Amino acid sequence: MTPEKPHIVIAVDGPAAAGKGTLSRRLAEHYGLSHLDTGLTYRATAKALIDRGLPLDDEDVAAKTAHALDLSGLDRSVLSAHEIGEAASKVAVMPKVRRALVEAQRAFARTMPGAVLDGRDIGTVVCPDALIKFYVTASPAVRARRRHDEIIGNGGEADLASILADIEKRDARDTDRADSPLRPAADAHLLDTTEMGIETAFEAARLLVDTALER
Ligand code: DC
Repeated sequence: MTPEKPHIVIAVDGPAAAGKGTLSRRLAEHYGLSHLDTGLTYRATAKALIDRGLPLDDEDVAAKTAHALDLSGLDRSVLSAHEIGEAASKVAVMPKVRRALVEAQRAFARTMPGAVLDGRDIGTVVCPDALIKFYVTASPAVRARRRHDEIIGNGGEADLASILADIEKRDARDTDRADSPLRPAADAHLLDTTEMGIETAFEAARLLVDTALER
């Protein structure tokens, strides 16, 4: 009899534009796991409210919308718009919305053969028993520069100073939130990508995952 493959959950947290999305996709691809960018679940909830002309400040209405969310229909290209990110950060402070989305995220994490989830509270709240946890960070200046270059690379227009101001504002909102604030889990591996390319970060993470799998 072949031994059963273990169910693997990899938690990746960190502030906006630190490189956690790219790292998570690379890890999911390498280990044959599903990947969920949990930020998209907050963004999709906000977009559903906007599309239906519903208020962004009514917790019960937002929670009902979050409960009805279909995780299979999350479209990054539509949801990545700046205004949707702003609206998402408003619904992300609501405990009832968080409870509904965390339930859906946990169900996703339980699917076989496992999953990589990235967000702000994966290691601390959503999957505290994950096989391995990473906290990906970089200085605000480097994150702003990366976001700026990405927008320019896609043919858009961007102003570095306003991107930096925006990143600092979002950091404060994510960190100061009462429910599930952004912080590294006690047992998370810190990956500071300020001076490290994403490929180097991926190699470091891969070695740590391989070691965790051997235990
Ligand atoms: O990472 P992002 O920009 O797509 O996140 C959108 C918003 O959702 C942002 O305000 C942070 C919030 N978020 C959260 O509170 N918890 C998560 N696990 C993921 C995102």
